[in-house]
Amino acid sequence: MTALMAGLTMASAAHAKGDRAFGEYLSAECVTCHQLTGGFAGIPPIVGWPDESFVAVMNEYKLKQRPNAVMQTLAARLSDEEIAALAAYFGSLAPRPAAQ
Ligand code: HEC
Repeated sequence: MTALMAGLTMASAAHAKGDRAFGEYLSAECVTCHQLTGGFAGIPPIVGWPDESFVAVMNEYKLKQRPNAVMQTLAARLSDEEIAALAAYFGSLAPRPAAQ
């Protein structure tokens, strides 16, 4: 019973932080536009942000408080869990110089 409860506590902590591996999987759709290098080519970079900022911005798109039809449509399809996972993944990446 104690072991089970410890397992549950760990699972919910991981959930609150966002599942990075799940975020990496979901990011495939984002990186067709947003560059992982953190470079700016008409589309703003989204790597290396604190989780809270990333989640806040995605929710603003979801609630249509931020203008941009593409991002509003994309964000509206994402659950809170998926947004947290994307925040964990993109936030864990450091912007890199484009030359590599
Ligand atoms: C079709 C291209 C496209 C795709 C795909 C896309 N985005 Fe975006 N995204 C944009 C554009 C363009 C902007 C800038 C909008 C603006 O300036 O108003 C943006 C803005 C953002 C911002 C705010 C950046 C800032 O500096 O304010 C975040 C965060 C973001 N996108 C996350 C995502 C995530 C997460 C995904 C995948 C689920 C995604 N985007 C997929 C084009 C895209």
